[in-house]
Amino acid sequence: KIVPVIMAGGKGTRLWPLSRASAPKQFIQFIGDKTLFQSTLTRVSDPELYEAPIVLTNEEFRFLVAEQARELGLKLAAVLLEPVARNTAAAVAAAATLVTELFGKDATMHVLGSDYEIDANATYFDCVRIARDTALEGKLVTFGIAPTEPATGYGYIESGKELSTGAHAVQRFVEKPALEKAEAMVASGGFYWNSGMFMFSAGQLLAEMNEYAPEVEKAAAKAVSKSTRDLDFTRLDAESFVKSPDISIDYALMEKTENAAVVPSPFTWSDLGSWDSVWKVGKRDENGNVAAGDATLVNTKNSLVMTHGVHLAVQGMEDVAVIASEDAVYVGHLKDSQEVGKLVKLLASEK
Ligand code: GDD
Ligand code: MG
Repeated sequence: KIVPVIMAGGKGTRLWPLSRASAPKQFIQFIGDKTLFQSTLTRVSDPELYEAPIVLTNEEFRFLVAEQARELGLKLAAVLLEPVARNTAAAVAAAATLVTELFGKDATMHVLGSDYEIDANATYFDCVRIARDTALEGKLVTFGIAPTEPATGYGYIESGKELSTGAHAVQRFVEKPALEKAEAMVASGGFYWNSGMFMFSAGQLLAEMNEYAPEVEKAAAKAVSKSTRDLDFTRLDAESFVKSPDISIDYALMEKTENAAVVPSPFTWSDLGSWDSVWKVGKRDENGNVAAGDATLVNTKNSLVMTHGVHLAVQGMEDVAVIASEDAVYVGHLKDSQEVGKLVKLLASEK
C-alpha cells in the first residue's frame, strides 16, 4: 500500500489577508464544505490503496490538523512537527526517514501539497496507479498538468520518451521560470505544469537527496533520529533540523535528478496558490468578476472581490483583487498576484 505524506506547513502568504499566519489557506474553507487540507485527506482515504497518512506541519497548526482529521473521522499515522520552517525538501526528507523506519525503504510514498483542488474521479486514480507502478521502478514521479497559460508560479516539466508503465521520462524540470521562458515552453508544447504531488520510494528519495542535497538529508535524518513523541505528535529535533538549508524539493531535487518521470494527468486540477488562480477557478459573472461576501461592484471588470465582514464597494476597476478580512484589506493588480508574498514579508518586518 502507498504511504500518503501531506505537506501542510506552508504559510500561504500569497493569499494574504484571507490566509493568515494563524490560519493559512490549507486550513480555511475557500470553496465547498471542506478545507483544502480536508479534501487532500479525503483523496488518500481509500484503505485498499493507502496506509493512514503522515502529515507534516509545525507546532502552531498541530491542533488544526488533528481537529480537521477528527471531523472527517480519519486516523493519522503520524503528525510530524517541524521546529522551524525549512521548506519542502527538508520536510519530505524527514518524512522519508520516518517512512523507512515504519515501513522499510521500499515503501512507496505519495507526497501531496494541500493547496490545490483535484477532481478525484476514476481518471485521477488511474494516474495514481501509474505513478505507483513507475515509482516501483525507482523513479521520482511527478504528475503533469497540461498548461493553459505561461504561469510563473509553477514548475515546468519537459516530457521525454514513454516508459513501460505509461509514464514518461523527464527531460528537464524548470521550477518557477521567468515569464519569457514560461511563454517559450508553453508555445513549444511537450511541457507540463508540476502538480505539486510526487510519488517515489522512501529509499530512492533519500539516496537522491543524499546526492543532490546532502545537507538537507543529513539534517532531516538526524532530526528524526532525535525526535520525541507526545501522543500523536512527533517533534523533530530542533538543533538538527535548523541546520537544513531552506529550499523546496523542486529546486533541491527535481531540477537536478536524472531519474524523474511524469504521468500525463488529464484530471481537473486547480491550484489555489494566489489571487489570480482563485479568480480563474471562481464563478465569473458576465463582467468577468468573481465576488464573494458583501460586495457591490460598479463599472468593474475581470476582478476578484472577496470580503469577510465589511461591505466592499468597488468602482471603475479592471483586473484587480480587492480582498478584505476582518482586520486587513489588500488591493492589487491580479497580474501581481505572485508578489503578494513579498508584500507580506515587508509587513512582517515593519511590525
Ligand atoms: N510541512 C511543510 N513545511 N509544508 C510546507 C512547507 C514547509 O516548510 N513549505 C510549504 N509547504 C506546503 C504548502 O502548504 C503547500 O501545500 C506545499 O507544501 C507546496 O508549497 P508551496 O509554497 O505552495 O509551493 P509552490 O506552490 O510555490 O510550488 C509547488 O507547487 C506548485 C503547484 O501548486 C512546486 O512543487 C511547483 O513546482 C508546483 O508547480
Ligand atoms: Mg502552492
